[in-house]
Amino acid sequence: MTEHDALIEAAQQSRENAHAPYSNFRVGAALRANSGRIFGGCNVENSTYGLTVCAERVAIFKAISEGERGFDGIAVVTDTETLTPPCGACRQIIWEFCGDVPVILSNLKGKTETIQMRELFPKPFDSSNL
Ligand code: THU
Repeated sequence: MTEHDALIEAAQQSRENAHAPYSNFRVGAALRANSGRIFGGCNVENSTYGLTVCAERVAIFKAISEGERGFDGIAVVTDTETLTPPCGACRQIIWEFCGDVPVILSNLKGKTETIQMRELFPKPFDSSNL
C-alpha cells in the first residue's frame, strides 16, 4: 500500500457520508497532516444550495480545528469516469493551508491521477501578496 492509497481509502470512506440529496454527486476527500493523522471530509449540501460545503474544505477545516498545521497531500474521490479536480474555492483554501502538495484524484474503479497544486493553481493570491 502506497502513502497515496491510505488517503484514497480514507476519502472513499468519507464519501459514504456525503449529504448530497440535491446534486446526487457524492464527494470524499482526505488529507494527511504532518503529525501523520488523516482527516476525511464529504460534501455537505443544503436546501438553499448556496450554503453547500465541498468535501475538501470539510476535511481541511476539521484538521485545522483540531490544531493541525502542515499537510503533505490531499485526495479527492468521486464515482465518475472523468476524475474530479477541486473547485476554485477549494483550490484557494488548499493553497492557504497545504501549499504546493500533491492532489490525488481517484474514482471508485481505482483510476487515479496526481497533480501538484502549483499546476492546478498557478498564480495564487496568498499572504505573500498582502
Ligand atoms: N463538490 C465537492 O465536494 N468537491 C469538489 O471538488 C467539486 C464539487 C461538491 C459540491 C456539491 O455538493 C456537489 O459536489 C456538486 O457540485
